[in-house]
Amino acid sequence: MTHSTAAAASGTTEVVLEASGLTKHFPIRKRGRELLSRGTRGVHAVDDVDLVLRRGRVTALVGESGSGKSTVARLLAQLHPQTSGTLRLGGEEVVVKRGRAFRAYSKRVQMIFQDPFASLNPVHTVRYHLTRALKIHGRAGKTAQDLEQALTDLLTRVQLSPPERYLDKFPHELSGGQRQRVAIARALGADPEVLLADEPVSMLDVSIRLGVLNLLRDLKDRLLLAILYITHDIASARYFADETFVMYAGRVVEGGDSETVTQHPAHPYTQLLIDSAPDPDRPAAEDKDGGSGEPPSLIDPPRGCRFNPRCPFAMDICRTEVPPPFPLDDGPGHFAACWLYGEGAAG
Ligand SMILES: Nc1ncnc2c1ncn2[C@@H]1O[C@H](COP(=O)(O)OP(=O)(O)OP(=O)(O)O)[C@@H](O)[C@H]1O
Ligand code: SF4
Ligand SMILES: [Mg+2]
Repeated sequence: MTHSTAAAASGTTEVVLEASGLTKHFPIRKRGRELLSRGTRGVHAVDDVDLVLRRGRVTALVGESGSGKSTVARLLAQLHPQTSGTLRLGGEEVVVKRGRAFRAYSKRVQMIFQDPFASLNPVHTVRYHLTRALKIHGRAGKTAQDLEQALTDLLTRVQLSPPERYLDKFPHELSGGQRQRVAIARALGADPEVLLADEPVSMLDVSIRLGVLNLLRDLKDRLLLAILYITHDIASARYFADETFVMYAGRVVEGGDSETVTQHPAHPYTQLLIDSAPDPDRPAAEDKDGGSGEPPSLIDPPRGCRFNPRCPFAMDICRTEVPPPFPLDDGPGHFAACWLYGEGAAG
């Protein structure tokens, strides 16, 4: 029995991957007078992020461009070492992986990217891509027949049928949606526990986005995958994700079950995102950024709450102290990192 079928049998939603205090500062080159100063300057791409991915659940990570969503995914995939913070996979702390250890980790934690055309090699067929993934992860079987069966199973699982119609096609012979399904099949070739999907439908035609999201949801239910779903589109998070976390300028500012976060947003930034979403009932337009005003510099981010320069409710404390996540009692796990909800706050 594979671990996913074992999990499916047990029907649990336990924590699979957990990030605590995850932080990534990208160093940048010093210029001019900075050359004389001590210390390194950096882009504060991700700061102190706590995130939990559970078996059989989709967790959405929502935020505007540059808020750090992809960096979080790349940290979770171990494609970048973190500056600080810890990752635990299946309860065990993950130490920076290279070589064989990295391969063992990536078997369990797979990533899907925004652009399926860029992530598939144009000179190779579907068969080549999927065979390679199966072989790398030791799932190609012993005989040619085993391999053929595994390839058929993968394509069937992503609803590309009949499989023989697709196996010998090149990426350019497929539609965008079919290419993304092949990329998903390749990720499933590892039989992973976690799927990190970085804007998996934002480059697809609006008309086929729903089909690919429904496929991911079906895989979550059938294989009990823990899925991280990154998107600009908070409306699609409501439709597709069990839990939603909202990022602003490298920090998580709100989280909780998707229904509560999207229907009763507490953080002023989440409210702005929702107010500027084109149509809350249609999980379609992925590419609009919400809100007025500019996101802050991440090289020298604002002190205190990073949203304070744009926030209509900013108070003195917001300009000096970072708000911790305050629990709210209107939905499961709902919290907002905002001083409006701090102890003694009015309302
Ligand atoms: N390798 C890198 N070196 C330096 N800075 C980086 C690097 N990767 C990302 N950044 C910076 O980190 C910040 C967060 O980037 P990230 O790509 O994680 O944002 P995002 O939320 O995924 O944005 P988008 O929605 O546009 O994909 C940005 O300021 C970006 O310029
Ligand atoms: S902490 Fe202050 S500045 Fe930040 S969102 Fe809340 S009220 Fe606005
Ligand atoms: Mg990104």
